[in-house]
Amino acid sequence: MAVAARTDLAFQQCIAPACGATFSIDEVLTSCPSCGNLLDVTYDWDRLPAPSSFEVFERKWMRRSDPLALSGVWRFHELLPFAPRESVVTIGEGQTLLSVSDGVGRYVGMNAGQLHLQYEGLNPSGSFKDNGMSAAFSHARMIGATRAACASTGNTSASLAVYCAVTRLMRGIIFIGSGKISYGKLSQALDYGALTIQITGDFDDAMARVKEVASKMGIYLVNSVNPFRLEGQKTIMFRVLESLGWEVPDWIVVPGGNLGNSSSFGKAFAELRHLGLIDRIPRLAVINAAGANTLHELFHNRGLRWNGGHTDLAPVCHYYDELDRDGKRADTLASAIEINRPVNLNKCLRALEVCDGVVREVSEQEILDAKAQVGAGGLGCEPASAASVAGARKLVNEGVIGRDDRVVCILTGHQLKDPNATVAYHTTDQKLFNEVLGSRGVSRASYANRAVSVGNRFDEIVQAIDLYS
Ligand code: F0G
Repeated sequence: MAVAARTDLAFQQCIAPACGATFSIDEVLTSCPSCGNLLDVTYDWDRLPAPSSFEVFERKWMRRSDPLALSGVWRFHELLPFAPRESVVTIGEGQTLLSVSDGVGRYVGMNAGQLHLQYEGLNPSGSFKDNGMSAAFSHARMIGATRAACASTGNTSASLAVYCAVTRLMRGIIFIGSGKISYGKLSQALDYGALTIQITGDFDDAMARVKEVASKMGIYLVNSVNPFRLEGQKTIMFRVLESLGWEVPDWIVVPGGNLGNSSSFGKAFAELRHLGLIDRIPRLAVINAAGANTLHELFHNRGLRWNGGHTDLAPVCHYYDELDRDGKRADTLASAIEINRPVNLNKCLRALEVCDGVVREVSEQEILDAKAQVGAGGLGCEPASAASVAGARKLVNEGVIGRDDRVVCILTGHQLKDPNATVAYHTTDQKLFNEVLGSRGVSRASYANRAVSVGNRFDEIVQAIDLYS
């Protein structure tokens, strides 16, 4: 099946129904020039050779020598048909796994066989960001960009850096907040050779600044305000469906930071339903860390809704004014989602409407306990990712998620992204625990697997093994 290379079959469109302005995919935009809202990549599905069944994707598994069939993103090229084949950039992203985890399921309160973990830590840079980065790089290649920038809490920067290093298509420029990025992620950006600029301030400051710099200097921006990036992230849902034999689960549970994933998932399901490939849409649960809970505050407590695109943005402005007035900054150990001004807020509201979604917040304690359970289940993740499992547990406790529902929690990033939090949780060193976790309100490590210290003596070691194994 051919993918359209014609630019009139794919275009950029303002998400506000009252505006709906359209722009060519050849333009580099991060917001609507007419009204300032976010942009979608929209397709003329009536004129595109869209697939009539999922079989076309399954058949591609037989052609794994073709890099586009091997990629977990571009295997679904027909569902993100903005780039001609020759422009596609892939480094083998998206070869990720969905697995049932009864151990984690028990912790969450689910019956056996119902809790699934979608492990995006298996991507080349160790997080889900590579799904979107391959799509953004493909667009950047189409328009001939030579420099790309992002603000990041660490994973976007690691992803940008690895795509620059492998493809040599662009020079990568990274903006990070001071002391706000875990060493695992920082080490990736440095090792892959990206220009790393640490600014005073946090992610929200870095995000505002990189938008300004990128626009004034004509640098291609790869944050998730770039609508092409979110096209790549839709494929996480395609792979979930593929792994479930194309059956739609009851719930997708995802951590919420800048709200790109949740936005792209909503778009993916709306498009699949439009194409007649699915007949129902799963419910979406977006989970904030309590220390970075803008979505939860606005959606859950202050009634902010998409409302068919007629969002009343007054509560958002009011809330941001309150944050400024009180000098309140995002603050969580789940540094990947330490964000108070999520750039995709409007799109996420739309996704919550499409998916009959809910929003919850989880504490640092809940995140770290859930993370330990995920690790014990065999798929280690970073703290932000564990918010999905902690959120699912909360929703089961509340009776919102049923014990027999089929639930997919997205594990967004690899365990090794942030080893400090893991070691501090499992440590026997109370000082270290207090410094890293106690200071953030974590009072106990209920699921700690503590190292056993013994002298280097045969009999002591044997005794320890006998005692503990
Ligand atoms: N989980 C991880 C591991 C992340 O790195 C991020 C975002 C999220 C969840 C939140 O996803 O923004 O789609 O809601 N990290 C960004 C970064 C902000 O710069 O790496 P979202």
